[in-house]
Amino acid sequence: MNYHLTSFGCQMNDHDAERMRGLLESLGYRESRIRDDADLILFNTCTIRGSADERFLGNLGEARRIKRENPDVVVAVGGCWAQSQKELVFTQFPFVDIAFGPGEITRLGELIARERIEAVGAFSFDGAFSGTLPAKRERPHHAWVQISVGCNCVCSYCIVPAVRGRERSRHPQELVDEVAALAGDGVREVTLLGQNVNSYGRDLPRGERMTFAELLRAVGSVPGIWRVRYTSPHPKDMREDVIAAMAETPTLCEHVHLPAQSGSTAVLKRMRRTYSRERYIDLLARIRDGIEDVSVTTDLIVGFPGETDEEFADTLSLVREARYDGAFTFVYSERPGTEAAAAMQDDIPPALKSERIQALVDTVHEVSRARARRFVDAEHEVLVEGPSRNDPDRLRGRLRQNITVNFSGDAVPGSLAMVRITGASSATLTGEQVGVRVPA
Ligand code: SAH
Ligand code: SF4
Ligand code: F3S
Repeated sequence: MNYHLTSFGCQMNDHDAERMRGLLESLGYRESRIRDDADLILFNTCTIRGSADERFLGNLGEARRIKRENPDVVVAVGGCWAQSQKELVFTQFPFVDIAFGPGEITRLGELIARERIEAVGAFSFDGAFSGTLPAKRERPHHAWVQISVGCNCVCSYCIVPAVRGRERSRHPQELVDEVAALAGDGVREVTLLGQNVNSYGRDLPRGERMTFAELLRAVGSVPGIWRVRYTSPHPKDMREDVIAAMAETPTLCEHVHLPAQSGSTAVLKRMRRTYSRERYIDLLARIRDGIEDVSVTTDLIVGFPGETDEEFADTLSLVREARYDGAFTFVYSERPGTEAAAAMQDDIPPALKSERIQALVDTVHEVSRARARRFVDAEHEVLVEGPSRNDPDRLRGRLRQNITVNFSGDAVPGSLAMVRITGASSATLTGEQVGVRVPA
């Protein structure tokens, strides 16, 4: 049997997709690169913005056509969109055989077995973590490690708490064991994943608990692991102990992804982010003081309900003041069921939203291009990932600061190369390998 999987959305979904592949292959399924050739067409969906829904629905129309031509094909829809549509999915899309939410991934095998009898859906949160499933990793030397699922924050624009449920942490020993097993399997870099990694552990019983900072130190001390990253911290929960752990643990990379969402305190208040612009900037200053040559990236939203020209200008000025190395920028999208959808008018005209996102993207590029120049004409450690995307004769890898480098050299994937950086665009660097690094 062949399966074809299309995954959308964030790193959590990338992680879940690797586990779905691992589970299906343990059941004897083989991955098909062509959807038309698959016996099982599987989608791992996202619903964070309206554009995510639209992209997925285009793909689902393709599955409908294939199923019409070959009724034996099984169509399965998992992930956040499926969870948000649990009441409607089988009536609106009768060709869908299986639907399940992000909390039911461990039951995928059982659902496939039952599907022959009836269309099946599973949308509760059954308590099992998808992180316990076998994984088929996209990058052999990198692994996602799911430390928690769900989110207890109440950001007024965000659908994630509704579709991923309350926050639940995995046990620290289980996580350290998992990372040790990954190291034994050749993994050199791990990225710890959670919607709000800093609140990790608070739901675990006293005595079994570790704070996020303690977990970082523990994972960072696993032999064979050279680099540890994490995403995302919520600024309200980012504490000194995490900054100290990063400063003192050599494997913890000098990169913080710190979603700001807006540079305006008034907008942050309407978003229910629970910090002000000033507190955010103060936190950033402490991060920069504590962690030498740290890179900082962020998420920003434009066109939130009621956003005035001045409030938007505050976001532009934050980008300059924060000196971001990069930012994911989004146009506000009203999500049914969120507080903002219920209580606020989506009142910024589309043309103004486009104007603002363009201005924001331009400012981010300008700032991050200037920042990237600090690496030029110096040697930096690069973890090699494979051939360069544009030129197979060159290599691609990443700095500890998470910036991509395309370079000439002969280092093997999964090794550390010393690279002399010769050029910088805003998103990537170019360079030449000058040596190798053998970690202690
Ligand atoms: N838990 C993570 C990721 C949340 S989703 C975090 O808090 O950082 C990733 C990003 O999508 C968010 O940071 C936010 O910038 C954006 N986003 C979420 N809901 C949105 C919406 N309704 N419209 C536009 N962007 C949104
Ligand atoms: Fe959404 Fe806020 Fe939770 Fe992030 S922290 S997932 S933006 S509710
Ligand atoms: Fe991620 Fe999209 Fe779900 S951003 S948590 S896959 S709604």
